[in-house]
Amino acid sequence: MKRLTIGAIAMVIMALFILAMFPQDMMGEEKGSEKKGKYYYKKSCKTCHSKDGEGGELTPISKTQAQWEEFFEKGMHGDQKLSDAVEEDQIIHIKTFLINHAADSDQPETCG
Ligand code: HEC
Repeated sequence: MKRLTIGAIAMVIMALFILAMFPQDMMGEEKGSEKKGKYYYKKSCKTCHSKDGEGGELTPISKTQAQWEEFFEKGMHGDQKLSDAVEEDQIIHIKTFLINHAADSDQPETCG
């Protein structure tokens, strides 16, 4: 009986660990990877969006979470489609990175 209880507790602890490792998956939402987003942002956006670049400096804190949300919802980049500026499958990750570090986020970030 005692053994069974310990086993059950161990199972619960393990389940909690697994849950903690995959919070986004458990929410059932389509979420990008922040880490990939940062990488792609540097690779695909920073080329133009640096201080001396043609797009001007742009960092996560350039917009609020709602503004980023709106930007990606429209899917437009100026009068071009955003998917013309960056590969489609990178967008979800870049979006996650930018929103997670937006001006009004818990961890605003100026670098990319
Ligand atoms: C080829 C160069 C280039 C690349 C790559 C590029 N941008 Fe831009 N971006 C520009 C230029 C030029 C402007 C300003 C003129 C305009 O609005 O089209 C701009 C404007 C913007 C703006 C402000 C205008 C708006 O629509 O709110 C945002 C936000 C933006 N870019 C985000 C991004 C993101 C995110 C990426 C990467 C996924 C990216 N850009 C990649 C050149 C680029």
